[in-house]
Amino acid sequence: MNISITKTTTPKAKPTMDNLPFGKYFSDHMFVMDYAEGKGWYDPRIVPYGPLELEPSAMVFHYAQEIFEGLKAYKSKDGHVRLFRPYKNFERMNVSAERLAIPALDVDFCVDALKQLVELDRDWIPEQEGASLYIRPFIIATDEYLGVRPSDTYKFLIICSPSGLYYPEGLDPVKIYVEDKYVRTVRGATGFTKTGGNYASSIKAQVIAHERGYSQVLWLDGVEQKYVEEVGSMNIFFKIDGEVVTPMLNGSILSGITRMSTIELLKKWGVPVSERRISIQEIFDAYQAGKLEECFGTGTAAIISPVGELRWEDHVMTINDNQIGEITQRVFDTITGIQTGTMPDEMNWVVTVD
Ligand code: COI
Repeated sequence: MNISITKTTTPKAKPTMDNLPFGKYFSDHMFVMDYAEGKGWYDPRIVPYGPLELEPSAMVFHYAQEIFEGLKAYKSKDGHVRLFRPYKNFERMNVSAERLAIPALDVDFCVDALKQLVELDRDWIPEQEGASLYIRPFIIATDEYLGVRPSDTYKFLIICSPSGLYYPEGLDPVKIYVEDKYVRTVRGATGFTKTGGNYASSIKAQVIAHERGYSQVLWLDGVEQKYVEEVGSMNIFFKIDGEVVTPMLNGSILSGITRMSTIELLKKWGVPVSERRISIQEIFDAYQAGKLEECFGTGTAAIISPVGELRWEDHVMTINDNQIGEITQRVFDTITGIQTGTMPDEMNWVVTVD
């Protein structure tokens, strides 16, 4: 399919790229493609970024049939544009699509469309340390209908946001509240997908955690509220007595691409790492025994975020004296080094645009 390109005639003023917030500014163009039952995906186009016209009855507004992705583009010191593992994002988008009864996309076509969009908006890629062009592909159900069934029409869009680090703390350790009242999802539901509903159901607990002085919530499993799952916008890793442990993918945890990359790096370095079920009691026991050595979150937006404090019920666990740990720092340096091109990409993770 040929992608038509309509360039903006009124380029927007760019924000100052120093101290960029996350996800607040948007580049000049966006990618759009439509779907109709019986016709498939059609009319791929890059057009000026702007409002969508949708009927109030569009199904996405009522039953949240929607999926999204998040990935980043960086500009290396020699000016080349680099995407971090973009095929993995569109492969995962198809996993989400299958669960939400949304038609699949052609992964190679999506990466090609993304390259064209990012190339056109390359001046929007920040070069400041810690900043990047955050890319948000998403699909929404657009049928004008109030019955509950899959939509027959959809829109797929990609928008781009020059963004700084997700957490204002930067690489300073964040404080996380272990949520013991609300749950995010249960096995068999949509926890393993990237769909807006997972995040909608998380917001209330996050508000309460913020009021208590915590950045995010650590979710426990939705049945027994015993086993660690993931943090609001990240997967979670613990280093216990020399071994790095992360909850195994069980159907209710997002298969994070930074999570996958972290595990692959640790294995390459010969650091013991396991994906398994891990209870919050085990974490607390390890803490009390002086064996909880490091804790960090991984995510596209957050990259690698050290956790300095975990609060579970009345227990406050201060980890590594609230300092970034050695493994956390090494994973952060390596992933950001590969992303920005200051370290060799031995795993062939980066796709260059130009
Ligand atoms: C990402 O890390 O890209 C995400 O999609 C998390 C988002 C909720 C900010």
